[in-house]
Amino acid sequence: MKIAIDGPAGAGKSTVARRVAEQLGMLYIDTGAMYRALTYIALRASCPMTDEAALRALLDQMKLVLDVTADGQRVYVNEEDVTDPIRTPDVTGHVSTVAAHPAVREKMTELQREMARARSVVMDGRDIGTHVLPDAELKIFLTASIEERAERRLRELEQRGIAADRGQLMADIAERDRKDSERETAPLKQAEDAQLLDTTGLGIDRVVERIVALYEEQV
Ligand code: C5P
Repeated sequence: MKIAIDGPAGAGKSTVARRVAEQLGMLYIDTGAMYRALTYIALRASCPMTDEAALRALLDQMKLVLDVTADGQRVYVNEEDVTDPIRTPDVTGHVSTVAAHPAVREKMTELQREMARARSVVMDGRDIGTHVLPDAELKIFLTASIEERAERRLRELEQRGIAADRGQLMADIAERDRKDSERETAPLKQAEDAQLLDTTGLGIDRVVERIVALYEEQV
């Protein structure tokens, strides 16, 4: 069984996907974390974000591990724990440029399909229902108003002690969505057979309940 959860930035995909996976006893895979990990390593290596071949070479050398623990997911690159640094505004500001390169996406898609092979998974991202797992039995497209997405991101950053400006966050989210939607290879798009779930004004519990109910209708 595969569940694909896609949607724009800050729609709550990670939290919801993790909770759904927990409830259904499935493996949770956060594909955004994979693009973020490559971006972080590239920034550290001063690799230009426009150099597709160099980025692909970096990715080919990386051993990327997503580990689900009791208190969330941890991300490792070559045994180094990069869970926190992949969430900084610097990485967030560059990740869509890195993720637009076809050679990068090709390898990421291969890794993601391999992780999902012969397992029940809940995978979240931008192109899971349309491209990575087109045969997923349940596809959800999760959205929320841009105001609410910025507000959630603001709270999340504050909790981690990072100050941010609401208006700037809204502009950054809109710009990231634009880049993710307009790229040529596997853009952010609702799959034709995905169910649209607008979470504006809905608590996490309600969203999780709704997805679990949709899953139960399928099995
Ligand atoms: O989900 P998250 O916001 O962490 O994703 C970070 C970025 O990774 C997205 O803005 C997008 O550019 C890229 N991404 C992608 N395809 C995916 C998951 C993430 O292009 N399946």
